[in-house]
Amino acid sequence: MSSDEMKKRAAEAALKYVEDNTVVGIGTGTTVNYFIEALSRIKHRIEGAVSSSEATTQRLKAHQIPVLDLNAAGPLPLYVDGADEANRYLQLIKGGGGALTREKIIAAASDQFVCIADQAKLVDVLGTFPLPVEVIPMARSHVGRELLKRGGQPVLRENFITDNGNLILDVYNLQILEPAKLEAEFNSIAGIVTVGLFALRPADVLLLGTPDGVRVIGV
Ligand code: 5RP
Repeated sequence: MSSDEMKKRAAEAALKYVEDNTVVGIGTGTTVNYFIEALSRIKHRIEGAVSSSEATTQRLKAHQIPVLDLNAAGPLPLYVDGADEANRYLQLIKGGGGALTREKIIAAASDQFVCIADQAKLVDVLGTFPLPVEVIPMARSHVGRELLKRGGQPVLRENFITDNGNLILDVYNLQILEPAKLEAEFNSIAGIVTVGLFALRPADVLLLGTPDGVRVIGV
């Protein structure tokens, strides 16, 4: 079975977490795109969605799903998003699509975070996928030096500007044994807007698409 089919399975399984007459927080990425397709089938039952990126906004609008402002709609009962890596404690690396800042804001403002992914995203130790870090442009070199001091190998994502007008450094060579500690430490580096580690606010449920069905980790 292809990874796309497994992503689709996970995305379809997330539909059952959507409650009638609520606003749903929506992440970014190929797995989420399958969720948006599924959600469009029941769009008459929800009030709308809060979007984590310009790309997701466009897709929601193309499916005639109302896009609402988090300030007006939050707090939200549910946030659905993908991940680049997940461990069994539902701590995640996110930001492969560069939308990590808005994703982290919506996750923080949501009661339940349902993460959807294909089974290959589950790892024992986070860090094989380079950790995305969103950085204010004038701080690029400073942040790069700070990350080097901590054993990371930061690489500037070429030809990429985030929806917030910032840069992404992808940090290689991290074996993330204490995700919450590293997230807090990187959060304290001046010039970092958002670290793509979701450990201080992990997912609540992980739905993994597999050839045998959907594996549920968490409640
Ligand atoms: C975007 C993300 C995505 O959730 C992550 O990159 C996974 O993407 P995909 O569903 O395409 O594998 O964090 O910023």
